[in-house]
Amino acid sequence: MTRTTKVFRDFHEYAVRVQPPSRPDRNIALEMIRVTEAAAIAAARWAGRGDKNAADGAAVDAMRFVLGAIAMDGIVVIGEGEKDEAPMLYNGERIGDGRPPLVDVAVDPVDGTTLTAAGRNGALSVIALSERGSMFNPGPCVYMKKVAVGPRGRGSVDINASATDNLRELSARLKKPVQELGVVILDRPRHDSLVEEVREAGARVLSISDGDVAGAIATGWPNSGADVLFGIGGTPEGVIAAAALKGLGGEIQGILHPRDAEEQRYAESLGYDFSRVLTTDDLVASDNCFFSATAITDGDFLRGVRFYDFGATTQSLVVRSRSGTVRTIETFHRHDKLQEFTTTGF
Ligand code: FBP
Repeated sequence: MTRTTKVFRDFHEYAVRVQPPSRPDRNIALEMIRVTEAAAIAAARWAGRGDKNAADGAAVDAMRFVLGAIAMDGIVVIGEGEKDEAPMLYNGERIGDGRPPLVDVAVDPVDGTTLTAAGRNGALSVIALSERGSMFNPGPCVYMKKVAVGPRGRGSVDINASATDNLRELSARLKKPVQELGVVILDRPRHDSLVEEVREAGARVLSISDGDVAGAIATGWPNSGADVLFGIGGTPEGVIAAAALKGLGGEIQGILHPRDAEEQRYAESLGYDFSRVLTTDDLVASDNCFFSATAITDGDFLRGVRFYDFGATTQSLVVRSRSGTVRTIETFHRHDKLQEFTTTGF
């Protein structure tokens, strides 16, 4: 080895040694928590007051206000509806301050408007973000048949199989008798025969009156008692749940479910397929997606907003799929400080 070669080799080895490890990149979910916290606090002011539109409106205002301050170029893929009906957070709206990253955004300022208005458990404020073009756009398809499981059940369920077969497979996978499985189902007449089948199979139905985003997340949450979610619920909620379950390591499958023949014809003319199984990756294609939820009212895994003389406390769940990091964050919000620079949301 010549002297010059040795010098180069030593230098190379030195450079490799001192090279810093690649830096952690931005976890935008940690900024999204401010968005869901503001929306949850605003909605919680209306909890139990019997006015679901007021609760939703307050949450939308607060969410949009905080979103405007986030450094991102976002397009609302799932929002409050079409522009004509929704003055804010409408589908297609650009949000953020216009700087990169380019992202798709799904919002549900209140999942569980009826729960909130009645002061019942299980209402969440949620947001999901993923790389531009990676989020399933539900278009006119309001409902979706769903099956969701947590990390341990992933790969054991098939939306085209019967509930009985799925429960048998899940029981084997979780090494838990069918009789001990907790099955989340929205309490709707359309689920009467499903509920009957689940009970016939010997499993326990955990009936929820609303809020199947929380229901889906519960299947991926340790000790929630929920092992699987079955039934037909909102398509937007299915996409949002997919973003959360991706980070939690669980799985959701969906099949679009038309309300009537006219809706089906119209959606098919736009290219939607009512026989296709939508996997977690079909619903959110990117491996880099972010999810934040703040509880409005108490739930299985988060405590709802509490108001105190100094302000309010919130509990949130923040998930990033690339790292699989799941954080629960409790925040103290001081009214006096916040009101010095904002009057919205807090
Ligand atoms: P809202 O908060 O918009 O009322 O949605 C609540 C919800 O329970 C969702 O969680 C669920 O996906 C959907 O409604 C079910 O729809 P429906 O009440 O029409 O059966």
